[in-house]
Amino acid sequence: MRIFLLLLHASLVVAPGAALSSEPFPVVVSTWPFVEAVRAAWRVVTAGFSAIDAVVDGCSTCEELRCDGTVGPGGSPDENGETTLDALLMNGSTMEVGAVAAMRFVKDGIKAAKLVMEHTEHTLIVGEMASIFAISMGLHGPSNLSSPESLEKWIRWKRNSCQPNFRKNVIPTNSCGPYYLSDAASTLAKKSLGELGKNFPEYNMLVASKANYIPVGHLYHDTISMAVIDKAGRIAVGTSTNGATFKIPGRVGDGPIAGSSAYADDEVGACGATGDGDIMMRFLPCYQVVESMRRGMEPKLAAADAISRIARKYPNFVGAIFALNKNGVHAGACHGWTFQYSVRTSSMKEVEVFTVEP
Ligand code: GLY
Repeated sequence: MRIFLLLLHASLVVAPGAALSSEPFPVVVSTWPFVEAVRAAWRVVTAGFSAIDAVVDGCSTCEELRCDGTVGPGGSPDENGETTLDALLMNGSTMEVGAVAAMRFVKDGIKAAKLVMEHTEHTLIVGEMASIFAISMGLHGPSNLSSPESLEKWIRWKRNSCQPNFRKNVIPTNSCGPYYLSDAASTLAKKSLGELGKNFPEYNMLVASKANYIPVGHLYHDTISMAVIDKAGRIAVGTSTNGATFKIPGRVGDGPIAGSSAYADDEVGACGATGDGDIMMRFLPCYQVVESMRRGMEPKLAAADAISRIARKYPNFVGAIFALNKNGVHAGACHGWTFQYSVRTSSMKEVEVFTVEP
């Protein structure tokens, strides 16, 4: 039975659960009802493969299925209409991390992250150089990551004067640019129109447009963040996302940032996150969760605490976290939206989806 516990904040709810089998491992946990991804990871880990292999297979499945249109190719067009990928893989036994960010032309985000982790001394490779690296290491590409759906969404956005968008303190925000620093643009307008220009409608329009920023809502964010504990008790985490819809080209979200979208340490447990990455990456919430559990906090309190730290500074942020300790006990916490996460343990006949209400 699922118990919902209200904690710390009116819009912050935690759903605790536990692997109750006498054999607590393996365990697979994933953000959202990405059931096929969890099934894929479960098949791999129950066949005796490592937590790393299971996370890669689980996240790859989501990329192939284009889960929610926000994982893998074909979703979240940026301002130029292009889809780019962020992904991360972390080995909780060795603390090795591999990640790619804003990767273009290659659809296998999590496999590229694995190549970074296992075949370089680096942690993060970005942009076109990540694509070149991934292709040179054998991944398929260059490929067009757009889809008819992503292009249609982008065309509708262009027709809507590129609203909403992620620009701020620039003018004009109510068009597709080019954008100027608001002060510089006002000065430019004043200069070209003269002091008398204040009486001209163009000047007034330019200044008024400063107030037209439309915040981008939570519908534009999502991520698969997955944690696996394998039969040997080794823990791995991975994430994959195509980021935020209509992001500014080159934008990197929380997905490839270790400690933000995911974190793992065999000695303690793991964490996965989803939501507004631009805000969440400022708090490293998954690092916070794992370190709180290290100091003795239960997963449900650790998850709630990490979320409430963000909510105190950004009351309107939208995000969620799951926490998983090394014994297989899991919990979720969220703010600003209903969160669901999926779990498979050997005590379950099928993947179970836990709901955390705001
Ligand atoms: N959480 C996904 C992103 O903000 O990119």
